[in-house]
Amino acid sequence: MPIKGINYELCSSCRMCILDCTKNLFSVDSNKKVIFKDTENSCNLCGHCIAVCSEDAILYDNFGDEAFTFDGIEKLETIIPYENLYKFIRAHRSVRQFKKKEVPKEVLKKVIDIMQYAPTGSNMRAEKYVIVSDREKLKSISDAIIEAMTKNPGMKESYEERFRLLGQKFEIPVFFDAPHVMFVSSQLDMQLADHNIGIIITYGRLAAQSLGLGTCWNGWAQIASLDNKKVMKLAGIRGKHIGAFTIGYPNITYRRCPPRSRKPVKGLKIDE
Ligand SMILES: Cc1cc2nc3c(=O)[nH]c(=O)nc-3n(C[C@H](O)[C@H](O)[C@H](O)COP(=O)(O)O)c2cc1C
Repeated sequence: MPIKGINYELCSSCRMCILDCTKNLFSVDSNKKVIFKDTENSCNLCGHCIAVCSEDAILYDNFGDEAFTFDGIEKLETIIPYENLYKFIRAHRSVRQFKKKEVPKEVLKKVIDIMQYAPTGSNMRAEKYVIVSDREKLKSISDAIIEAMTKNPGMKESYEERFRLLGQKFEIPVFFDAPHVMFVSSQLDMQLADHNIGIIITYGRLAAQSLGLGTCWNGWAQIASLDNKKVMKLAGIRGKHIGAFTIGYPNITYRRCPPRSRKPVKGLKIDE
């Protein structure tokens, strides 16, 4: 078990770990000493005990990378103030025109690294990641997606025209010629799987934007893969829950942040 216990030379018995552990694995013994006991191995490695301990007294074996801290961790609003986040989010676009130039591996790794810090229900982290960069393979996946989407009677009409137009401009129409497509899948067949994938992809897309890259969520890959096992096979993914996004250097510049209508919020008058 990676969480090993408590370093009593450092522990001040503040009990924050007891309050913050969602699995109730910390308690006090008869001597009022805080103890850690995980008899049923139910620790989900969320690391909250490590994060919250002001004395750095939690003992653990490496279960990934090292915990770290930095100046400003207790005042996160100073790292990305709301005004900066607002601009970053408002300017975030689904990019549908890419340069064919590949993204260096070190840069892709930075995106994937951020994706792996996305929260998941119960910290399950049951997702698999596949990135496809081979153009021929991307073309085959694109063809299989078009085949699946245009076979489906409910989608045939709208998609035949859409893909015909995209086919006039792009060699790999479904992915807008992007050099990479990232697939995230989950073998867990539960509703939370889709939420987890959605959050992971959103983290990746925002990370990509911070590195000068563009992305577009590819719902077509998601829909077609559930309809057509060929898409799954070509992409090397399995499961009932998948998500995908294209990633590359944008071949387009957006100069304005478009407006969005306000949705009513029950319980809060947002126009006042
Ligand atoms: C779950 C999801 C699936 C999407 N699937 C596609 C897709 O298959 N193809 C596409 O061109 N855009 C897709 N989009 C992009 C949306 O069309 C886009 O987010 C929306 O039009 C707003 O534009 P913006 O992202 O630039 O603000 C998808 C977005 C989401 C969130």
